[in-house]
Amino acid sequence: MSGNRETLLYLDGVSVTFDGFRALNSLSLVLAEGEMRAVIGPNGAGKTTMMDVITGKTRPDTGKVVFGKDTDLTKMDEPAIADLGIGRKFQKPTVFEPHTVWDNLLLALAGDRRPRFTLWARQTSEESDRIDAILKTIRLREHRDRRSGDLSHGQKQWLEIGMLLAQEPQLLLVDEPVAGMTDAETEQTAELLREINRTRSVVVVEHDMAFVRALGVKVTVLHEGSVLSEGSIDHVSNDPRVIEVYLGR
Ligand SMILES: Nc1ncnc2c1ncn2[C@@H]1O[C@H](COP(=O)(O)OP(=O)(O)OP(=O)(O)O)[C@@H](O)[C@H]1O
Ligand SMILES: [Mg+2]
Repeated sequence: MSGNRETLLYLDGVSVTFDGFRALNSLSLVLAEGEMRAVIGPNGAGKTTMMDVITGKTRPDTGKVVFGKDTDLTKMDEPAIADLGIGRKFQKPTVFEPHTVWDNLLLALAGDRRPRFTLWARQTSEESDRIDAILKTIRLREHRDRRSGDLSHGQKQWLEIGMLLAQEPQLLLVDEPVAGMTDAETEQTAELLREINRTRSVVVVEHDMAFVRALGVKVTVLHEGSVLSEGSIDHVSNDPRVIEVYLGR
């Protein structure tokens, strides 16, 4: 599947140091256009820091981060990188709890980078169609008129993914999406991300191995800020070095 696809994103020799501690240590990684990649590794391996570097939150000391043909992300700030089409979901949901599911999506719609100025104006039919499509993807069609604060934890996570989809990202970064979810929600999240991956590239960081297996994609194992192992889930979970530092604990 990943045969002749173009490279969408690559990191080359990226290092990040915090007060003398190397969070990323000459990290290199290549993501193909249209690919979904799972990133695993022990606590403190540098997974979140890697996302911080891609999204411009953290500047690397050395190394290259290149998106598309030749866009150097290390020269750009966070809003500019978001505008390029890189969307990021943080671990803690940040939905507007007093608003309905529908209104949260309306507020998040692209075309207007600032939050939509007001909910008083009725949405256009184009906006409604897009919200309907997103609701279907995130499995919240039946919940569109509910107050977001009343959703389950898992549903809030899906809504937040929907709010990112509203901005039509080319690349979606998700950090530990299934933490705190029920098993059923976890399974549905794997399915949901696979659906999203039909039209967008995705990088997903997660500790839940059943979930990672359900994604069925190439896995990168980070350890001490660099790649320890990479390949299919079976390949990395049989790699003695991965068992030693991560899976065997
Ligand atoms: N802003 C910061 N200042 C100082 N140290 C930091 C900062 N951000 C991360 N670190 C350190 O860098 C290392 C890598 O952290 P990071 O959050 O990237 O790990 P992670 O792989 O996401 O771990 P987890 O699985 O626990 O989320 C950790 O030791 C962390 O304490
Ligand atoms: Mg993390």
